[in-house]
Amino acid sequence: MGLRLLRKILVPFAALVLAAAIATIAMGHTHSTTAASTPSMSPEAMQLASLASQTTKGQLAEGYQLFAAHCSFCHGTRADGTTGIAPNLQGLGAGTVDLWLSTGWMPLKTPSAQPENKVPSFSPSQIRAIAMWVASLRPGGVPLAPKLDLKSASLSTGFSLFTLNCAPCHTITGAGDALADGYHAPPLHGISAAQVWEAVRSGPQNMPIFGDRNITPSQLEDIVRYVTQKIEHPQNPGGLGLGGVGPVAEGFLGLFAGVGACLAAAYWVGDRTEREEEEDPHGHGTDHGPEGPETAPEGAHA
Ligand code: HEC
Ligand code: HEC
Repeated sequence: MGLRLLRKILVPFAALVLAAAIATIAMGHTHSTTAASTPSMSPEAMQLASLASQTTKGQLAEGYQLFAAHCSFCHGTRADGTTGIAPNLQGLGAGTVDLWLSTGWMPLKTPSAQPENKVPSFSPSQIRAIAMWVASLRPGGVPLAPKLDLKSASLSTGFSLFTLNCAPCHTITGAGDALADGYHAPPLHGISAAQVWEAVRSGPQNMPIFGDRNITPSQLEDIVRYVTQKIEHPQNPGGLGLGGVGPVAEGFLGLFAGVGACLAAAYWVGDRTEREEEEDPHGHGTDHGPEGPETAPEGAHA
């Protein structure tokens, strides 16, 4: 009796410690390979690799499920706006969807509510999944913001381009201003580089769309650098809302996956000491629990 109790406590504990050790080693390994492989890859190769890894089948399935649960009520099951309540999203591109979700504008509570800046309802990887699923329905529109080379972007060019193209609405300090017809250009504080890029290319609501010919890709990098470095407060280093999943996010994923595996192992082992074996030990699944609410509050530190 006493022995069984002891075993019930000790076995899961040992499994936990072991799995934590394995997770730590695995994380360290991920980091060292990332660091080692980065300099040897060209930017194009890296972008291609990251694009390919951006759309896995599992990700599209996750995006479909999230959309069905949180968006289809208004936008229709195929995101085509056939409900008549909300616009057709097909062909707008992943970048447009990413912007509307990473700013917290969507989902709305009621169709007549006004989109407002909020803490996003989804984690960055869930947002990407929804965005990639919508983009998979029809090509075109605005892609996810690419990796931007802000180090070589020009702050002074960014300043003059901002003065010319953006300040009329957002004001020179980026504090935002009231526009005609009761519209309001929001302040540009606390937004990410990816959001600036996606806003300029997609032109949300009353903002004009600036295509490649109005603002070239390198000019846009200048503007993004100016907005994110001069107008904003220093903000979320965790990469929330950015196109790339940074090492911090990877670390967190590794940690949560590791802890999840620990718990699953502990429960399974604990269970087995009592009952005869019954279920498949691999059944702990990879639903979005571990990376859901835990990663989202990163932005709150901004
Ligand atoms: C309660 C209804 C409702 C829900 C739920 C909802 N939306 Fe919307 N959505 C709207 C309405 C209404 C608009 C138009 C808003 C406007 O232009 O002021 C809109 C606009 C958008 C736009 C911009 C479209 C454009 O033409 O630029 C995107 C992108 C979008 N929604 C994505 C989503 C996604 C993704 C979800 C689920 C996470 C979602 N929405 C959930 C009602 C909804
Ligand atoms: C004609 C007025 C107008 C001009 C010009 C304009 N914007 Fe905007 N911008 C808006 C409005 C209106 C919104 C709010 C859209 C919404 O709420 O859906 C907005 C939204 C944004 C956002 C999203 C802000 C947020 O709250 O997350 C960014 C970033 C942005 N603009 C950047 C720019 C940049 C950079 C330029 C210049 C290249 C620019 N805008 C030019 C009117 C303008």
